[in-house]
Amino acid sequence: MASTSNEEKKPWDSSNLRKYCLNFGEVPRFHFDDPRVDECIRSNKPVIILGTNLVKPAVEKWNLGYMEQNMGAALNTVYFSKSHKFKYFDENKMLGRSNPKGVQFTPPIRKEDMLIGDFIRTMRDWKQGEERLYMQQSLTSAVGTNIVQDFVNFNWKWISSKQKLHKWGKLTSNLLYVSQEGNVTPCHYDEQENFFAQVLGYKRCILFPPDQFQCMYPHPVHHPHDRQSMVDMDKPDHVRFPKFKEAKGVEAVIGPGEVLYIPIYWWHHVESLMRMGPTITVNFWYKAGPTVIQYPLKDHQKVSIMRNIEKMVLEVLRDPNEVGPLLRNVVLGRFED
Ligand code: SIN
Ligand code: FE
Repeated sequence: MASTSNEEKKPWDSSNLRKYCLNFGEVPRFHFDDPRVDECIRSNKPVIILGTNLVKPAVEKWNLGYMEQNMGAALNTVYFSKSHKFKYFDENKMLGRSNPKGVQFTPPIRKEDMLIGDFIRTMRDWKQGEERLYMQQSLTSAVGTNIVQDFVNFNWKWISSKQKLHKWGKLTSNLLYVSQEGNVTPCHYDEQENFFAQVLGYKRCILFPPDQFQCMYPHPVHHPHDRQSMVDMDKPDHVRFPKFKEAKGVEAVIGPGEVLYIPIYWWHHVESLMRMGPTITVNFWYKAGPTVIQYPLKDHQKVSIMRNIEKMVLEVLRDPNEVGPLLRNVVLGRFED
């Protein structure tokens, strides 16, 4: 068995998890000093890492009250959604001067800059049927001194040793997520390595490897939902997205003090467990290390190549509507045996 702590009593059960039409395998859980942690990271496989103390000061202190007292006076990015889903979109890829021929697009969520007090009060007073809220704020020096001190006391020694060992690039950002129970970040991939550190409450992460590209149906690269799956996991359209049924994913539920490694280009869907209270997470995004070209190429390198081909074709055609037809013509009926 992969686990060192599966035997511990879990405070959640399947009734706290959303239901989907797929079954998932389990992400392994290893203690930080187990050599299998580095084997997973080396082979771009997700792993739950126990006992790192990566965000210990936060696990010990951070809750809604503490955040209210200590985040400071700066504004925070808060998303509002009419459903439980918060599907990210790229404002820069919306119709506009920079994208005159882009796709028509209505954002599924709205963004508001809020004082921490207003955010926490709205979250506490929230009633069923109202818009849901999700704060996703970069941790910058604008936060109050206590949070700065907690941040300084994170286990930088451990995380920097991983960065060095696996030859990752620089740390680009730490995002702080404060969520209501039941919120969902739909399936997408990021172009960076991610240590996802749970501080408060429980999150479930469903992951699919980069080689499942054909099962996940990502929006086109020029679309505001670039890197997001077009499949709605709540009610997948099996006619439009027939291969989604074949997607093989793994899942992880992480609680306070646990760190999930989300490898670069891995698809991930994240949900705050239902009826388990609010959640707080801090993630650590690292640039990929220098590209090592070794054949056969890694699956995520092939995704990167596909992205570049799409970008190049758009750049020369200058009309997103022409990209699909051209790429189809390149392959149609030509590469069968
Ligand atoms: C989330 O925690 O809701 C999303 C995290 C991520 O996409 O990296
Ligand atoms: Fe992500």
